[in-house]
Parts: sequence; structure tokens; C-alpha cells
Amino acid sequence: MTIDREAPVGVFDSGIGGLTVAREIMRNLPSEKIVYFGDTARVPYGNKSQETVLRYSRQIIRFLREQNVKAIVVACNTASAFALDEVKDELDIPIIGVIEAGARVAAEMTRNKTVGVIGTEGTIGSGIHAAFLKKLDPSIRVIGKACPLFVSLAEEGWLHDPVTTEVTRRYLEPLKEQGIDTLILGCTHYPLLRSTIREVVGEDVCLVNPAYETALELRQLLADKEMASTGKGREEFPYRFFVSDLAEKFTVFANSILPYDVTMTKKIDIEKY
Ligand code: DGL
Repeated sequence: MTIDREAPVGVFDSGIGGLTVAREIMRNLPSEKIVYFGDTARVPYGNKSQETVLRYSRQIIRFLREQNVKAIVVACNTASAFALDEVKDELDIPIIGVIEAGARVAAEMTRNKTVGVIGTEGTIGSGIHAAFLKKLDPSIRVIGKACPLFVSLAEEGWLHDPVTTEVTRRYLEPLKEQGIDTLILGCTHYPLLRSTIREVVGEDVCLVNPAYETALELRQLLADKEMASTGKGREEFPYRFFVSDLAEKFTVFANSILPYDVTMTKKIDIEKY
């Protein structure tokens, strides 16, 4: 199969969280076109079963294939944990997730070999970060903590709010007490709460946001496979955004965090796929 190197990259998440990854791709791979899908009708994924998240991921991948994407970034830790291995074998284009990159950086950063991982119930329950970290360095102690309320707070836009600060304290103080020096933001929604998380854990804990590393991994992958765009047609191809519900709310939010003016988000019926 010949892949058109000028084709867009598909990026997906359960909602707005993956925009933190799309933002890094925009900044670091400016020649690449992006088709983003946020499953806003079915968010959150974090409290759903593997079977359901796998079914949702397959539907989204079918939709993205229809958009002729040349590669896919699963910009969602839960879908990366629950679906990436399965869908990788079913696809004839490259697909990457966000978990490995975060684990790699955390293993490099930790000095006292005590790493905290926060994520959805699904991601933390899967133990996938711990598995990657242990593979990289068996002496690392991994302390996982599910923070399910964070996704709702981020989707609600309560990024700087006393309620968010209180919830963050309840979740993260126990991790601090256990001596973590590195914390993986193991859900793509969480970087949106970064300043509150920073306030609660203090300056001494290194926060790992896998979004940036994932963008670099994508750049390397496209280069290795000679699939990197030359930038041809990029200006004429505005970044495209699709959701399964509440397109206007998504547009407003996307505009508040992206270095790009989102003029339109299109709602599609993902159950058709
Ligand atoms: N942003 C997603 C993640 O990285 C999922 C959040 C959710 O839908 O529960 O896990």
C-alpha cells in the first residue's frame, strides 16, 4: 500500500483531553495536517469496561480511516491501555498511544525511584504504566491513583477553582506522603489542571505530561517511515475537528487552549461506524 505523505494524522480522545496532545503536534510538527475526533457523547471512558472502550476505539478508527488519515495517535490513556494492542494488529497504518512515552520520561526523571501515576480507573486498574516502568527499571516503585473526578472538572472548564484545588488535595496528598519525586499525568485531560496539580504537589515533584513526548514520537515515526508531510497544502487544509455531541461547546473550549483559531467543529454520528 502506498501512503500519501501529505495526508492528515488522525488524533482521538473521549473528549477534550486529546487536545493537549493535538496542541503539541501543532507546535512541534507544524507541517502536519490533523483530523481530531472527540467522543463527547460517550465521555468518560475511564469508568467503562475494556470491551466497551475497544468497541468505541474501533468505531473511531473506522471514521478516521474514512478521512484518509495516514497515521493515528490515540490521545487517550484509557483507550491506549484498553485498545491499542488489539487495534494495532488490525490496521495497515501506524498507530501510537500516549503511555509508553510518559513512562520513558518518568523513568529518566526519577531520582529516588518512586513514581506516582494518576489516571482514570481503567488506566490505573490496567497497571500498564507500572508494567512499562518496571520493564525500563525494575527498581522503580510505582504508586498509582485513579482520579476520576478530574475528567469532569476539566470537561466542565473548572481549571482554576477552589473545588478543583480541594479535590486535587484529596487525591494527591497521599501520593506526596509516600515520597514520589515524579508524577505521570496519565490522562490527557490532566495537563489542563496542571497549575492546580503543581500547587498541591509542590515544586519538588517533576510532572510528566506525555503529550510533548508523544508528538516527538510521532515525528520520529513519520520520519522513519518516510511519511512526514512536506507541508504542501497545509495552509489550505484547516485542522479538522469532529465530535459525537455538543460541537459548539467543544469549539469554545478548543479555542481556549489551542494556538489555532477553531472556526468549526462538526458533529457526526459515531454509532454508524
Ligand atoms: N482523556 C482520557 C485519558 O487519557 C480519558 C478520560 C475519560 O474519558 O475518562 O484517559
